[in-house]
Amino acid sequence: MKVETLRWAHNKLEMIDQRILPAAFEYLSYYTAASVAEGIRSMVVRGAPAIGVAAAYGVALEALRLSSATPPLSPEGRGGSEAGFNAGMEEGFNVLAASRPTAVNLFWALQRMRKVWESVVTQTPQQVAQRLLAEAHEILAEDIRINKAMGANGAALLADGARVLTHCNAGALATAGGGTALGVFRSAVEAGKKISVIADETRPFLQGARLTAWEMVQENIPLTLITDNMAGYMMAHGEVDAVVVGTDRVAANGDVANKIGTYMVAVLAKRHNIPFYVACPLSTIDLNIATGADIPIEERSVDEVKGFRDYHWAAQGVKIRNPAFDVTPAELVTGLITEKGVVLQPDVQGIRKLMG
Ligand code: MRU
Repeated sequence: MKVETLRWAHNKLEMIDQRILPAAFEYLSYYTAASVAEGIRSMVVRGAPAIGVAAAYGVALEALRLSSATPPLSPEGRGGSEAGFNAGMEEGFNVLAASRPTAVNLFWALQRMRKVWESVVTQTPQQVAQRLLAEAHEILAEDIRINKAMGANGAALLADGARVLTHCNAGALATAGGGTALGVFRSAVEAGKKISVIADETRPFLQGARLTAWEMVQENIPLTLITDNMAGYMMAHGEVDAVVVGTDRVAANGDVANKIGTYMVAVLAKRHNIPFYVACPLSTIDLNIATGADIPIEERSVDEVKGFRDYHWAAQGVKIRNPAFDVTPAELVTGLITEKGVVLQPDVQGIRKLMG
């Protein structure tokens, strides 16, 4: 089954509401940058590459909305309404940039859209909007191609029969299609390897139990769900052959930010001599950040830790923290799997060479 996490239909963006999966499967419609930003913040759409694609469409939607309110170019030249268009666009970029802080793909996509905007800034708002929409389509299509290449590179690392643990959801739902870590699993299966997946449930938002499990069940890829605190037991009992996870941002030295709990898994993998791979498109590598210590880590609402949805099990009045990501030092990473190849034992030199 092909999961279309985001799609352009009838002049609007549609995104699967990942907050209600797997209980219900529903698309929500988006028409403005502000509503897309809210969709990202509230995790209707989540996962680093998918956030980037959504943001690109957010920019295009804003341009379409503003240009439809801007009269076409008059014979006298550009009018005051274009100043309004440009100011509205800046506001759209700002609201999208403020939606979530950790996934660098968001800022990467906004930067790319801004460059396109600058390259056509002398054209009419209507032409600018069409060019930005074409770029958003290209970012979506490119993400699917990248995931395919990354999947093939990663699949080669997995032995036939491998039992592979993953954390969070780095699947089709976290991208425009195919997935990063789950893309590796899909490619391994396509190559005829009989792999099986172990998914951490991934507290507190349950991306593993709800989303990774749903995706693997759809495709009949064998999956065993465990709670996060069972990973050490599984490794100690020889039930894990490799770990493959995704990432939201990789620093220039190879430190990796990913869903909270990933660091714990990496430490356990090292203790048990299990390879720990990170599937990561080049757009997730941030050369402006020297080490993981500088990666901004999102703190989300404490309600997510209190319980799930409306049911709260934590004691009333208790102090709660909810950092949504942690950083795994490069020394614990066996390899970065990218669309350009695998960087073993990533460090500054290896990453620089990869990025050309
Ligand atoms: O908070 P989320 O669900 O957006 O976090 C997602 C992750 O941590 C994924 O592992 C990461 O974005 C890689 S997705 C291909």
